Amino acid sequence: AAVHYYDFVLEETNFTKLCSTKSILTVNGSFPGPEIRVHAGDTAFVTIHNNGTYGVTIHWHGVRQPRNPWSDGPENVTQCPIPPGTSFTQEIIFTAEEGTLWWHAHSDWTRATVHGPIIILPKTGTTYPFAEPDAEQTIVLGEWYKGDVMAIIDEALASGGDPNVSDAFTVNGQPGDLYGCSNATTFRMMVDYGKTYLLRVINAIMNEEMFFGIANHTLKVVGMDAAYLKPIEVPYVMITPGQTMDILVTANQPRSHYYMEASPFADTSAPFDNTSTTAVFQYQGGYTPPSKPYFPSLPAYNNKTAVGNFTKLLRSLASKAHPVSVPLNITHRIFMTVSVNQIACANASCAGPNGNRLSASLNNISFVTPTIDILEAYYSGIPNVFNKTFPDVPPYLFNFTGDVGSNTLFPSRGTEVKVIEYGAAVEIIWQGTNIGAAENHPMHLHGYSFYVVGMGDGNFDNKTSPSTYNLVDPPEVNTIGLPKNGWTTMRFVADNPGVWFMHCHLERHASWGMDTVIISSECYLEGDKASNANIRNAATQELELALLD
Ligand code: C2O
Ligand code: CU
Repeated sequence: AAVHYYDFVLEETNFTKLCSTKSILTVNGSFPGPEIRVHAGDTAFVTIHNNGTYGVTIHWHGVRQPRNPWSDGPENVTQCPIPPGTSFTQEIIFTAEEGTLWWHAHSDWTRATVHGPIIILPKTGTTYPFAEPDAEQTIVLGEWYKGDVMAIIDEALASGGDPNVSDAFTVNGQPGDLYGCSNATTFRMMVDYGKTYLLRVINAIMNEEMFFGIANHTLKVVGMDAAYLKPIEVPYVMITPGQTMDILVTANQPRSHYYMEASPFADTSAPFDNTSTTAVFQYQGGYTPPSKPYFPSLPAYNNKTAVGNFTKLLRSLASKAHPVSVPLNITHRIFMTVSVNQIACANASCAGPNGNRLSASLNNISFVTPTIDILEAYYSGIPNVFNKTFPDVPPYLFNFTGDVGSNTLFPSRGTEVKVIEYGAAVEIIWQGTNIGAAENHPMHLHGYSFYVVGMGDGNFDNKTSPSTYNLVDPPEVNTIGLPKNGWTTMRFVADNPGVWFMHCHLERHASWGMDTVIISSECYLEGDKASNANIRNAATQELELALLD
């Protein structure tokens, strides 16, 4: 296995888009940033040189990093921000992941401009589980904000309301023909008739899940989150922030210009950017181009059924070379509500609903990011940084997806983490709620890929829901869209010691507290056992029984 070295220079760079020029934080002056390209089993060392003006960290999204949380990156979870004027080297250990992942800044909202692809080719000496494509193209879906993204989130948190939305979506940094001043720079993918292309699609957008398609062309999805899928042929995909998809497209249509388009899926009452970004899938010469390229027909922005139908198709390849190993006998089960809430506002003129401010929570705890990183605090025993009190069930039972008044539950705030014993077979049932605004949440876990064994609408029901589980070939991912007012069950084996962040990958929800930390520990202490047991034995036990047994 090879070792690769990269230098990432964080620096302010000027770009002109949407008719105006502004400076953004970039890596090596490019937007999106540079690609990391390795084979499965390789290691990369990336030295980050922070030539910017504030502290930043970088995360390798979806790389499992066995026993290496030290290089994982989320700010104040596994490390302090890298101060301006300094360098920091991270070691990225690639094991079984094959396909596409990405890296991004993991400090406030810096990831809006600081992100790039990670391409993981099959282990040296092996091939793709599909015919070698003729060529490949990375498609990074991103956004352009005319304002400063750091100011946008600061304003939202200070006022207690929703953050501003972006001014354009982008394909490989370009907004495309449908936006002002953008025609000349539209991204064009030049193709030859008859060839097959591997598209590596990354959703690096802050707050919107996206539909993506190419006019007249069938998408054959063969991988997701760097794990292979049974090929699915579809006219469009839905890809959430955090997710990556490997898609084969054969240029088999009459030579012409076809739009590649991405438009939001946003079944929400929150404000969102309801525009589309386009690039051109353009056959090489010898014809007169149409005056306007053809458009794909993507579902409407609120078409939840289209999302459900697509998600249902995802199955692991489950071949001899790429087997699945879904844990069957669960030893640690967590039932976790995922909510947008409100909490009381300090400030009288608060912009949130009902004079409150917007907040978000897991099991009704709105996560507070500490100022000392949790990894260091855990391994060097620094007290009072976090509590090992994240509960296995929510504080009370209610009709999660029913008509819950927005004041039903105000979350508590705290840095509460879950310690899980090494080797545990873990099941997490994420339950969406209708507390504030119900919405689809792309739930993400660091340090692991997990199997999505079940998903459904409404409240999880322990009598009927488990009988629908797919334990044979469930997709193995690092991010999955928990359906609006629905539930999702995922499983993994806690065999990667470390401190691992878990959060919604919609940045506004993560900023409001829809996060927690899983510590998978090899030195599972008596104290950890006691705190887990206490949580289970206290008032919540009855509830746990009602929900899970
Ligand atoms: Cu892309 Cu903490 O995640
Ligand atoms: Cu969310």
